[in-house]
Amino acid sequence: MSTDSILERYQNVMFPAAAPYHANNPIVVDHAKDQYIWDIDGNRYLDFFGGVLTVSVGHCNDEITQRTLEQLQKVQHTTTIYINENMVRLAEKVAELTPGRLQKVYFTSSGTEANETAVMAARMYTGNPIIITLRHAYSGRSMMAMSLTAHGSWRLGGVVDPYIKHVRNPYTYRAPVGLTPEQLVDLCVQDLEETIATQTNGQIGAFMAEPIQGVGGFIVPPQDYFERIMPIVKAAGGVFIADEVQTGWGRTGGKWFGIEQFGVEPDIMTFAKGMGNGAPIGCTIATPEIADAVKGATFSTFGGNPVTMATALATIEYIEENNLKDNASVQGAKLREKLEEFQAEFPFIGEVRGMGLMQAMEIIEPNTKTPDYKMAVALMDTAKEQGLLLGKGGLYNNVIRISPHLNVSDDDMNMAFDMLAKALLEVSS
Ligand SMILES: Cc1ncc(COP(=O)(O)O)c(C=O)c1O
Repeated sequence: MSTDSILERYQNVMFPAAAPYHANNPIVVDHAKDQYIWDIDGNRYLDFFGGVLTVSVGHCNDEITQRTLEQLQKVQHTTTIYINENMVRLAEKVAELTPGRLQKVYFTSSGTEANETAVMAARMYTGNPIIITLRHAYSGRSMMAMSLTAHGSWRLGGVVDPYIKHVRNPYTYRAPVGLTPEQLVDLCVQDLEETIATQTNGQIGAFMAEPIQGVGGFIVPPQDYFERIMPIVKAAGGVFIADEVQTGWGRTGGKWFGIEQFGVEPDIMTFAKGMGNGAPIGCTIATPEIADAVKGATFSTFGGNPVTMATALATIEYIEENNLKDNASVQGAKLREKLEEFQAEFPFIGEVRGMGLMQAMEIIEPNTKTPDYKMAVALMDTAKEQGLLLGKGGLYNNVIRISPHLNVSDDDMNMAFDMLAKALLEVSS
């Protein structure tokens, strides 16, 4: 079976909106192991995007697979109408590792559902439906999550939740002309205050943000941004929801969670992706009083699934036992340094930014800040031809996202640098 014939069949039976990367020559995956993916033609790729920051400790990781298989042979599914111990153990682990008073957990199957649960809990706790979130956010694909999302291209179906308001995000590279990062934070604070004053009665249900905006193109806020925002949120009666779907579980280096890099404590956190190394998990954790405010019944068929729970617990323990938060710092610094070297050499790399093992290059037309989407796509496609898989993002689709597995080695990094150097040279000629 050839890639072309599978692509043709794919296009016949799949929604066109489910568009694969590398449109003209997509990858049809045959199998994967640790840092590598093989396609059906036998080509091997070094995976530096991890299924969108999801394969956090490598494909088919032996230890995770073993524990998953053991659980599969024991019991696969019961739903939450019965209790399984894995669910309790994982919830205890999440409560142990998350900061502050976060203590009660609700499991689902995706980041979208984790965010749905967070917003529902915030609204029930505060009695206020208004959610303030950031422009350039990505929150998922339910109708409510698309309303939270602030990328026009990811908002389909035309239904917009009128209680969701978007404020300016701290995107320093694209700040209004001439503003320093400090002045941009002032502007963000002012925008939040004005939004609350003009579009609400002064009270809100929640402020929700990704500590580093993921789909937005790894937008890292200035260090004091969240500390400046938080008193305004609290004064308006809002709780703070941190969406850690991309930034959670050691990804940003040195700490378990992205928000811990910014010195504030959320009231609710959401997780998915890297928490399960590829198992379909969503997780919401809240303070006891917020969780207890969700009165009545709510049900998720696959939430707390014993196999998913076993996989996620194995993943978190693997990250902990192998000290991968620190590996993310060390290898992330190496990656950052190399990308900055490339930036000095190639004028179409407008900015290098990120934290830990989420690093990005914003691709522009040289000597301007005009986003160069075509160049970004060419770079991704050329890197793939070299054998290196990268991701893409940003409102203008011009940001290359690089997020290898947390157990990435020196050899993996050096291999990636060689392939990326060749791809950069090729697209620049
Ligand atoms: C920050 C963030 N939140 C939520 C989601 C939605 O997660 P899912 O695709 O698992 O529903 C995503 C997915 O990319 C995300 O990046």
